[in-house]
Amino acid sequence: MDIASSALADIVGEANILTGDDIGDRYRIDFLRKHEAAPGVVLRPASTEEVSAILRLAHSEGTPVTVIGGQTGMCGAAMASPGGIGLSLERMNRIEEIDPASMTMTVQAGCVLQVAHEAAEEQGVFLPLDLGARGSAMIGGVIGTNAGGNRVLRWGMMRDMVLGLEVVLADGRIVSSLGKVIKDNAGYNWKHLLIGSEGTLGVVTRAVLRLRPLPTTQQTAIVATGSFEDAIRLLRNLEASLSGRLSSFELLWGDCYGRVVDAQLKQLKRPCPLPKGYGFYIVVEAMGSDREGDDAQFERALAAELDSGLVVDAVLANSDTQRATLWGVRDEMHVGFMNLMPFCNYDVSMAQSVMPTFVSRVREDLAKRYPEAVSYFYGHAGDGNLHAIVNQDPGKPLESLAVDEIVFGVIRELGGSIAAEHGIGTLRRQFLDWTRSDDEVWMMRAIKQALDPKGILNPGKVFEL
Ligand code: MLT
Ligand code: ZN
Repeated sequence: MDIASSALADIVGEANILTGDDIGDRYRIDFLRKHEAAPGVVLRPASTEEVSAILRLAHSEGTPVTVIGGQTGMCGAAMASPGGIGLSLERMNRIEEIDPASMTMTVQAGCVLQVAHEAAEEQGVFLPLDLGARGSAMIGGVIGTNAGGNRVLRWGMMRDMVLGLEVVLADGRIVSSLGKVIKDNAGYNWKHLLIGSEGTLGVVTRAVLRLRPLPTTQQTAIVATGSFEDAIRLLRNLEASLSGRLSSFELLWGDCYGRVVDAQLKQLKRPCPLPKGYGFYIVVEAMGSDREGDDAQFERALAAELDSGLVVDAVLANSDTQRATLWGVRDEMHVGFMNLMPFCNYDVSMAQSVMPTFVSRVREDLAKRYPEAVSYFYGHAGDGNLHAIVNQDPGKPLESLAVDEIVFGVIRELGGSIAAEHGIGTLRRQFLDWTRSDDEVWMMRAIKQALDPKGILNPGKVFEL
């Protein structure tokens, strides 16, 4: 790296420059330990102005800059270039304002998602975006990846919650539009270009987020159905019978549920909440504000589905502890897959009607090439997003590119997306044009070229220049 350390020290101070062994794993390795980076330096700026000054320097020297957040990404997008700058915004973690009258929160990029949740709740308002990595993922990261998670079905993805954005562009220019309005059609809505751009178009430093009324009731269950078609019928029924309160519909194929609950029993001593052996399991959750009526409505809705035979078994949480136990099955699924590491994992979306075809086709194609392969399927079926884990048991690595081709080949035929919520990073880069047309990729490159002509922002992510 050509930038003199004295110039960097003038910006962030000696104490906020990490080099050599001081760059701990937390800045180099992601939580699945799939990707590893070797940044030349990690900088921890305290303000947008410091970020801007760093980028001005990096721009003049042509030094790569990668933002490092909570390291919970899955596609390698937060891996700094060898010898480049890793930018950690962990010191920029303040919640600057919660405005309950306008239902907005102004927050710095380094704030951890769960901290933002809790701060909103203290003020009696609600930030709906939720995911298993809530305790480490940072606001800048969830904006950079347009994160989804468990409640997209009702409240949308991060994109749907960002009203205002402040970013620093590659040349150090600060672009700020921290308005609190939902409607703003004044020319191009540039913030949507930045959201989900994986740090390749600008560094997100602050955001204004849209809040919602804080739900005061929550009903959670795990239910089982015999077939996938019944699970989707249940989804549509509950959307209607819960009057729009259905917030999560997280589905696990039966064999996936079995593997996860067995491992959780053994390793976490968490008892299996619903017997194994059914076709499909769904974590269903509704949220609302009618203390008298919501529990009864939820129970009525599930009872009707049990009576009709669509639901074959169900367990309802009757306390917050039980709710945590039920969600634990879904949030801590990795426990079930540890001994399959290093596995291939996928994050795809498609019309719900073709999901069973997707699973059976992937399994058929895998078996032809790798007779010993095992595959597990689960995900946010309510919004069309499935995850898959593939390997040989126990953990005999497959040729991951060949498995990618199998999975993405089926997705391509079925008209889905190879990257529903985790993004492209480096892991999916060579498959971008399996899911996007040449003209779409051309447009993406033109935008990148216009905003970052020297290619210093997170080089090699999404595509090679
Ligand atoms: C999830 O839904 O749990 C996350 O997206 C991570 C994953 O399972 O791939
Ligand atoms: Zn997910």
